[in-house]
Amino acid sequence: MTGSRLLGTGSALPRRVVTNAELAERVDTSDEWIVARTGIRQRYIAEDDETTSTLAIAAARAALADAGVDAASIGLIVLATATPDNTFPATATKVQQALGCNGGIAFDVAAVCSGFLYAMSVADSLLTTGMAKRALVIGAETFSRILDWEDRTTCVLFGDGAGAVVLEAPLGEAQGPDAPGILAARLHADGAHHDLLYVDGGPSTTQTTGHVRMKGPEVFRHAVVNLSAVLKEVLEDAGVSADALDWVVPHQANARILDATAKKLGISPDKVIVTVQDHANTSAASVPLALDVARKDGRIKAGDLVMLEAMGGGFTWGASLIRL
Ligand code: UT7
Repeated sequence: MTGSRLLGTGSALPRRVVTNAELAERVDTSDEWIVARTGIRQRYIAEDDETTSTLAIAAARAALADAGVDAASIGLIVLATATPDNTFPATATKVQQALGCNGGIAFDVAAVCSGFLYAMSVADSLLTTGMAKRALVIGAETFSRILDWEDRTTCVLFGDGAGAVVLEAPLGEAQGPDAPGILAARLHADGAHHDLLYVDGGPSTTQTTGHVRMKGPEVFRHAVVNLSAVLKEVLEDAGVSADALDWVVPHQANARILDATAKKLGISPDKVIVTVQDHANTSAASVPLALDVARKDGRIKAGDLVMLEAMGGGFTWGASLIRL
């Protein structure tokens, strides 16, 4: 049965742009190294008055406007983040309060860079079982707050931002393959790789927020293998070939990961949405941010078959196939 339908998208970025050249004044790096190894040219960094919730609220408002629906019709908010405003309550409840749709369901999902894929599937399940009729699914991060600005192997890679989508419950009857909605999705996790990508702090361990630690080359290798595998699974589940895809909207960690994954599946690079040059890696925000950019600039259109995919700390990874 076809799943929830996407009604609109929105995104938000902090005011301040930080270029590679600016970073090179603070740490031992260069624009050439960052561009060659990652494709990143700049990132947005939140100022003191910009937080995960302010970015999430702005992205949510933009998605509601794009969908043409009132906040009052939203019965479910699922917000993916690894950088919540507070340890609790969930940042989703701040979004709910700001939008004035109190009383429905609101909670955060922690799956780091795959968070938006996890949040989409959780929201789709709740909509499918009738727990709500309409949902906001948000990915929002201020990763700049958990970066070690002395560690050049991580601080050049990440940025801040938010993206959001409005989902509506499935129609509840059999739909043809061309009907809009989520066609298939898969999620995975493998806790064996905790030490390759993690934050070295937390409320129950150090009572500090901690900093991102990553063994980049190992993560890179796992990312290409895991993403290729999950994309194949989702295509098989949906009974469609890679050729049938109009667009792939991947997690924006590294342009080389996007190239290698597309190559492995025989997907033309022209079909892959790449925004890493402008936003760097915004963790849970990167997929909805890239989706919104490509819808607003006219590349992704109604009726297109779009694959969303991500991989991140945990490890966690997943993919979702949606007909817009
Ligand atoms: O979103 C969650 C998932 N995360 C990812 O998918 C990230 C996956 N990993 C990557 O994207 C890449 O592994 C990185 C971009 C993190 C690193 O690229 P790499 O080509 O794997 O480089 P490397 O770590 O093997 O480092 C190569 C060299 C090293 O120097 P030596 O040992 O060859 O002398 C590093 O010390 O580059 C050096 N290096 C830097 N040089 C200038 C590392 N970071 C920097 C830097 N500027 N910022």
